[in-house]
Amino acid sequence: MINRRDFLQQGAIGLLLAPRAGWASFAASRSADSRIEVLFDEPLGTISPNIYGHFVENLSGVLYDGIWVGEKSSVANIDGLRKSLIEHMRKIKATVVRFPGGCFADSYDWRDGIGPSEKRPRRTNFWAMGESEKAPASHRYDPNTVGTNEFVHFCKLIGSEPYLAANVRSLPAAAFQQWVEYCNSPAGSTTLADARAAAGYPDPFRVKYWGVGNESWGCGGEFTPQEYAVEFRRYSTWLPSYGDNLNLIASGPNTDDWSWTREFLTEVLRKGPGGLRRIYGMALHHYAWNLSRGKTQDWVAGKGDALKFDAVDWYELLREGERMEGLVTGHWQVLSEFDHQHRVKLVVDEWGPWYRPGSEATPGDQLEQMPTLRDAVFSGMTLDIFNRHPEKVTMANCAQLINCLNSLYLAHADKFVITPVGHVFELYASHQGGQALRTIFSAPNVHYERDGQAASYWGLKGSASVRDKSLTITAVNPSTSEPRLAEIALRGATIKEAAMHFLSNADIHAHNTFDQRDVVIPQTKPLSLSGETAIVEFPPASVAALTIQLN
Ligand code: AHR
Repeated sequence: MINRRDFLQQGAIGLLLAPRAGWASFAASRSADSRIEVLFDEPLGTISPNIYGHFVENLSGVLYDGIWVGEKSSVANIDGLRKSLIEHMRKIKATVVRFPGGCFADSYDWRDGIGPSEKRPRRTNFWAMGESEKAPASHRYDPNTVGTNEFVHFCKLIGSEPYLAANVRSLPAAAFQQWVEYCNSPAGSTTLADARAAAGYPDPFRVKYWGVGNESWGCGGEFTPQEYAVEFRRYSTWLPSYGDNLNLIASGPNTDDWSWTREFLTEVLRKGPGGLRRIYGMALHHYAWNLSRGKTQDWVAGKGDALKFDAVDWYELLREGERMEGLVTGHWQVLSEFDHQHRVKLVVDEWGPWYRPGSEATPGDQLEQMPTLRDAVFSGMTLDIFNRHPEKVTMANCAQLINCLNSLYLAHADKFVITPVGHVFELYASHQGGQALRTIFSAPNVHYERDGQAASYWGLKGSASVRDKSLTITAVNPSTSEPRLAEIALRGATIKEAAMHFLSNADIHAHNTFDQRDVVIPQTKPLSLSGETAIVEFPPASVAALTIQLN
């Protein structure tokens, strides 16, 4: 039986919206079956924009081909970086990007990726052993063309913050300290600041987010939580800050490993309560991968297919993803036992579905899979979970940005496509920085048959946030066949105007390819209405955003 740790060790709406008066006549033909009640006097907290974050690992086609095409490429680029990608990431207001891993991070020496590009060493990539025969050499042997300078430049072009993950498994603490020095020491102050300036970057990068290792329970060093806590204390002691707060993210648990969180914190605090002050965030990783309906826990055998699935598999994936809400509240509960002031937040820096190989848009790209409408619904559901817990989750990073697992984009040479997942980030962008409001979703469950047994799943869920006079309600209708007709009731505000943007398709397998790029794209419906209530139809298998201007 293989688990994820072993695997990694091997390297390898039709829509109707009506004012209350209109609703009466409409209801004569059909009644609302659901209700969304937005409670303006019950704010939950500010939604951290960083919940809408991304993850870029030096893994197969993610970096080389996906992001980096080279300055001399015929593919449109800005300083070697894929232009169409940068443009859409600006559009979705991408806030933070994590790099260089993932497992890769704990094998990476940042010093290989600075200085003149042609002098940088080639190294064996962590993922080399899993690469196919046909893969380009850059996927197996890292040319180090993209290093700290190029990655930070990519982030600045998008308007997002870099989040760098330090190597704890195979580099000493001094290397981490010097990476911070290279990035953040003032112009002219240190030899490393001079090296940065020589590359064209005299001003400090002012990198704020730093991961101290990655999955330290597995590919990041096979540490016990106690051992890792000792390393965390050591790597975080007397780091130079150069006037900016360094937000350190501790390598956290895999899914529901409560003991990792508890034992790590116990050890970090052994030397006194100051230990907590070093931790900005506790990482949490959760992949929805086991679609075997309880038959196996084997990491390979348990996986499902990205494209070939039936309605039961659809719900199964959502069930696996929905575990996220319990993981957020559960790990938060453990944190609360140690951190009564709730200073330490959760950083869900890897999330998404993980299918078996076979659906790659670019054959040979390792871990690449084809996102469908199912993954869009999954992603909307996950972002809604984060929105509902703004006081707990401060950052989240979808795994991974391009040519990988739950990717927003697929690209190969001059081909580029925005996946349904990418469009979800477009629909949800207006939540960033909004005040989350408690919102009650009431809807009948979906009923279906699962391996001969009656099964059910919730019928409508989502989240709401307000900023100034703009209200955003996002919602997911998971039913593969039934629309949901919901009455929207605003408690404490009235509607001036509204529009609905949504993703749906009659085919639950619908997806965008290099040749057919517009199969799943946002559809918009402008609405003219007023008052406190409205009726909205959410099509089957849909993810939707209502943008409402308030009086
Ligand atoms: O996202 C792929 C891999 O999944 C990452 O490298 C690792 O952190 C996780 O196990």
